[in-house]
Amino acid sequence: MRILLEVWRQRSAGDEGRFERHEVDGVTEHMSFLEMLDVLNLRLVARGEAPVAFDSDCREGICGICGFLVNGIAHGPLGNATICQTHMRHFRDGELLRLEPWRAAAFPVLRDLIVDRSALDRIIAAGGYVSIRTGSAPEANATLVPKDAADRAMEAAACIGCGACVAACPNASGALFTGAKVSHLGLLPQGQPERRTRVLRMSAQARAEELGHCTSIGECARVCPAGIQLEVIARMNRDWLRATLSLRGEAAPLAVTPPSSPMRFYERTPVKERP
Ligand code: SF4
Ligand code: FES
Repeated sequence: MRILLEVWRQRSAGDEGRFERHEVDGVTEHMSFLEMLDVLNLRLVARGEAPVAFDSDCREGICGICGFLVNGIAHGPLGNATICQTHMRHFRDGELLRLEPWRAAAFPVLRDLIVDRSALDRIIAAGGYVSIRTGSAPEANATLVPKDAADRAMEAAACIGCGACVAACPNASGALFTGAKVSHLGLLPQGQPERRTRVLRMSAQARAEELGHCTSIGECARVCPAGIQLEVIARMNRDWLRATLSLRGEAAPLAVTPPSSPMRFYERTPVKERP
């Protein structure tokens, strides 16, 4: 197979960037997409040129580090699969593919197809934890978890933090990611002590990272390789409303919301004084 590529090349965050055209022949249908890029890079290096920078680690759809746009679609045309798990048999001989990094203000481009996704780490750090006693392992049945809650928490925990949901959303919203993290812990008994502060802190941090608001378009769920469903956003919104109402009167500022954000007014104004 012969694949034509238009790849985004950007030397650093400050560089303007441009598309560069390459032709890769000798591609087999059994190669993964990243292996096809490995072939391109070996040839570029042999010619003394800089290889195309892209992130990868497990190449098994587990770690969440890989990801870029293929013809404008996060993780490529398969849907619900990472780019490392996408194979060349899904493309035609001679097909032209345009590769771009995630496009979102919260994900600045570091080099070529690599973006800085530390915004997602900071959202987790804001509230994605539980307070538990450390030490010896607790007895397995000491805390009973209803089967339904365990199943739904497990589904939400499947999020691998790849950021495709943000890249696919026209608002660059991080709601699917944040909703998955909030649901994962909020559904379990161990996650109850911080349930209210968790949702407030994590959603405030998402705003501070310049991630947009969810308008229920659903592109995020279409591309999510972990199959995270929109219901996690509904659950997060419910928790946020309950927490906002139940914590009224208490000191609320939980993260730095940009001064331009209309949410700043709501965060600073006690509930009973809001219009
Ligand atoms: S919700 Fe899905 S698309 Fe978003 S970061 Fe998690 S795994 Fe990736
Ligand atoms: S490299 Fe780990 S999910 Fe793709």
